[in-house]
Amino acid sequence: MKQDTLVVLGTGGTIAGRAADPADHIGYRAGEVPVHELLAGVAWPPGLRGVCEQVAQTDSKDMDSAVWRTLLQAVQAHVQRPEVRGVVVTHGTDTLEETAYLLYAVLQPAKPVVLASAMRPATSAQADGPANLADALAVAALPGARGVLAVCAGEVHSGLDVRKVHNHRLVAFDSGDAGALGVLEEGRFTHWRDWPRAGTLWPRWESLCAAPAWPRVEWLSSHGGQSAWLVQALLEQRARALERGAPRGEMLEGLVVAGTGNGTVHRDLSAALEAAQAAGVVVWRTTRCPRGRVLAGGDSPFPVSELPPAKARLALMLQLL
Ligand code: SIN
Repeated sequence: MKQDTLVVLGTGGTIAGRAADPADHIGYRAGEVPVHELLAGVAWPPGLRGVCEQVAQTDSKDMDSAVWRTLLQAVQAHVQRPEVRGVVVTHGTDTLEETAYLLYAVLQPAKPVVLASAMRPATSAQADGPANLADALAVAALPGARGVLAVCAGEVHSGLDVRKVHNHRLVAFDSGDAGALGVLEEGRFTHWRDWPRAGTLWPRWESLCAAPAWPRVEWLSSHGGQSAWLVQALLEQRARALERGAPRGEMLEGLVVAGTGNGTVHRDLSAALEAAQAAGVVVWRTTRCPRGRVLAGGDSPFPVSELPPAKARLALMLQLL
């Protein structure tokens, strides 16, 4: 069957933001404009037909497991349809890297799943959303494109590597040391790295979809002047939750510590984290450095994640599921 359909799933974000004043790029409400309105006037790749669906309408800072689950299920259902060439997801920039990682880790799709976002609301006189959405559609339509991707300001990033690196500029994303996959310039795509590899569906997909709640994993940073208090408070709460037989999702199961430098942890925090480990909490360490990854070694009692903190938190959550 001919793959002639692109599916666009709306989840909200600044790309769907609305402000009273077209010059206002700060005092707007994210997640207001419906996805079908975002598509009005956006150039559609030739020869392809499009369908859209509003999966959520949220400011992505409020992203939660309910929206993620709905999105994962919608994307998985659409990529399995033979006529679908690819899926585009409109999304807020603030937690885009988390959604991108989750889609990557769970679905590992053989078709392109492209996240489109914007730094200015849809009502802006200089909105960047329409061009970003058109670019995302163009990437989803490219022959051979596959995997979870993020397209913003003409750059194409992989879902595994993408990170938000600027709070305001239109070029808000980066892929760290890995670098972008490519760029779109005047509608022409230049490839710098290969598409992400396609894999198999997360083995505990059924649990991910059916579980009433996902394991609770928190993330905290090590810093000068750090103490044991935060972790002690979490452990006390965990002990109370255990005592009353609290359901999954309420009881702490994992902790990710964003360490300094090569994942080093303040001595007082480290002692508290060892107590957490002894109490049954799984502790991973990564780095708070915006670039690089922790190189294992030394005598730390905490296993290393090579992912940045926001993604490591989700990876640990998936492992605990
Ligand atoms: C959001 O993440 O939903 C709001 C901010 C943005 O999209 O840039």
